[in-house]
Amino acid sequence: MKLQKILSYISLLCLSGVSVLFVGAQNPSTAQTSPAPEPGGRPHSLVWDAMEKTYYAEFEETVATYTFWVTNTSRAPVLITAVTPACSCTIADNPQPWKLAPGEVGELKASMNFAGQIGEKEKTMAIDSTGGRRQVLTLKVNIPHDDNEERRARNMAAAAKDRQAVLKGDCAACHVEPLKGLKGEDLFVAGCNICHDPPNNAKRAQVVPDLKTLAFPTDKAYWKKIIADGKEGTLMPGFATAHGGPLTDEEIESLAEYAVKAFPFDPANVKKTN
Ligand code: HEC
Ligand code: HEC
Repeated sequence: MKLQKILSYISLLCLSGVSVLFVGAQNPSTAQTSPAPEPGGRPHSLVWDAMEKTYYAEFEETVATYTFWVTNTSRAPVLITAVTPACSCTIADNPQPWKLAPGEVGELKASMNFAGQIGEKEKTMAIDSTGGRRQVLTLKVNIPHDDNEERRARNMAAAAKDRQAVLKGDCAACHVEPLKGLKGEDLFVAGCNICHDPPNNAKRAQVVPDLKTLAFPTDKAYWKKIIADGKEGTLMPGFATAHGGPLTDEEIESLAEYAVKAFPFDPANVKKTN
């Protein structure tokens, strides 16, 4: 068994050996970013200009864009059969079907919606092709924190006057637009965590409760109700269309399904808050 495997690797090496040397000499600048060789030492036919790119966002931006360049370094055509982002927040825009002739350079554009998030985030994108095993590209984004206390105070005052304000007008750019087309966890991150789980802000925790430490047991019906109707007399808005909110019954259902699993009740929380 083992010997057979080794022999087949050796024959692969022999087959590709010529083109490896040829490519190395022809295109030395891309050689350093080429991924680890295939098992058996055979290099991947596709060489990317980078396996990882970082987008530095400005405050109030919500979409990061990326361009990756890929070269078919082999002597045979390569078919890219699938480009699969790991998250529905990431969209790949590539030719379909995508065939690269020997030596051809292709362009893969991608975008990531990071609205409502702060800090360093990263998502991956898997590339399946006939050029070798699956390759993974990493898209990173660096999102500045909103340090503008004046703007935050203004937003808080608007929400205090009308808890639905956050789902309307100018507020919608960050609190509603990014939710479109999302479901379950992705929808929760964009629509709920923006208030409930902003990183490194203890001050905010006094206003917006941490959903991981709720002091009472919850079920799906609880989540559906609080998401749909919010909480009267507080900053927690009602997301249902009945309250002028943006979410359909189906979307609310998907959030509740995620929430019952993500926030199981821990009796220890009751003692902590009493
Ligand atoms: C540019 C994007 C953006 C816009 C526009 C925006 N918000 Fe926010 N909002 C955020 C982010 C991000 C957070 C999380 C806190 C932070 O900034 O660190 C947040 C948090 C909040 C919170 C939770 C309390 C807090 O300060 O953390 C409330 C309430 C709120 N926003 C209301 C509003 C209202 C009302 C409007 C419109 C008048 C509005 N927001 C417009 C991005 C935005
Ligand atoms: C504009 C900011 C904001 C957004 C967006 C928001 N919440 Fe809230 N939420 C609050 C605030 C503030 C409270 C605290 C209400 C209070 O004073 O009792 C709260 C309370 C809650 C509570 C009750 C906690 C308790 O102790 O009673 C739950 C559960 C909850 N939110 C879930 C969600 C979910 C799920 C989403 C997304 C669909 C969401 N929230 C979106 C601000 C927000």
